[in-house]
Amino acid sequence: MILFQPAEEGGARAKKILDAGALDNVIAIFGLHVKPEIPIGSGVFEAIIRGKGGHAALPQLSIDPVMAATNGIISLQNLVSRKAGPLDPQVLTVAKLQGGAAFDVIPDYVIIGGTFRALSREALKHLKQRIEQVIIGQAAVLRCNASVNFLDEEKPLYPPTIKNDDLHKVFVDVAGNLIGIYNVNIDMQTDMAAEDFAFYQEAIPGYYFTLGMKNASSIETVAPLHSPYLVINEDGLPYGAALHASLATDYLTKYKQDVARVVGKYHGQL
Ligand SMILES: *[C@@H]1O[C@H](CO)[C@@H](O)[C@H](O)[C@H]1NC(C)=O
Ligand SMILES: *[C@@H]1O[C@H](CO)[C@@H](O)[C@H](O)[C@H]1NC(C)=O
Repeated sequence: MILFQPAEEGGARAKKILDAGALDNVIAIFGLHVKPEIPIGSGVFEAIIRGKGGHAALPQLSIDPVMAATNGIISLQNLVSRKAGPLDPQVLTVAKLQGGAAFDVIPDYVIIGGTFRALSREALKHLKQRIEQVIIGQAAVLRCNASVNFLDEEKPLYPPTIKNDDLHKVFVDVAGNLIGIYNVNIDMQTDMAAEDFAFYQEAIPGYYFTLGMKNASSIETVAPLHSPYLVINEDGLPYGAALHASLATDYLTKYKQDVARVVGKYHGQL
């Protein structure tokens, strides 16, 4: 079975595909992404910090949400630097900050938002909990009220993408035979991008690999992923298709027993 990745970047549609039962009788899954990246779990948050707006020259009559938001942002930075071990990579970035619109008016509320990333579901859950505590706690210090929204419906927590060791062996074998082992980089560096393929990996053994697509005969610099100038080098497509086809046939041949078990279960259900 082949499936494309719908709304990979934000919609977490892998979760919807899974929930719809599309992978119920699948024993393993391989995925491919152009450009080298090994992705990680991530989540997003948005908080609204409410105070009481007023004249900027009469702060004593207001409850200033800008101060509460900035205290919150500074304190959030402690979570990764002081709470995560130095060898446990985590990222917490506040990328969104919306306050008032005038030079002389204290706004009623401020919105902050950002993303957090980690290498395990536990670390992600812990970060999530602490983000809420810190924002609400810091708002309270300055008499503001805050609520934090983790957009669980629109942008559910992406689990970390971690390779399955058995499938890794299959992959190295197949890719080595197909394109030569020197063209297979099996020690790619971990990075903090996020990937919804990880939802599949929580349900069944999964393996995600990347396919280089730089044009070796061109001296032009290649635009990165997510750039509007990115150009797909279609010369790479046959390699990707051949890898997928060989992985499927090789895996099905090697794991005949698993296949028989799943197919048997499937027919039993009919
Ligand atoms: C915060 O919430 C409490 C309880 O609902 C309310 O009494 C107070 O006025 C609120 N403060 C602000 C700044 O919104
Ligand atoms: C790769 O670059 C060469 C040299 O610029 C060019 O002639 C060729 O069309 C490029 N190939 C693709 C697939 O873009």
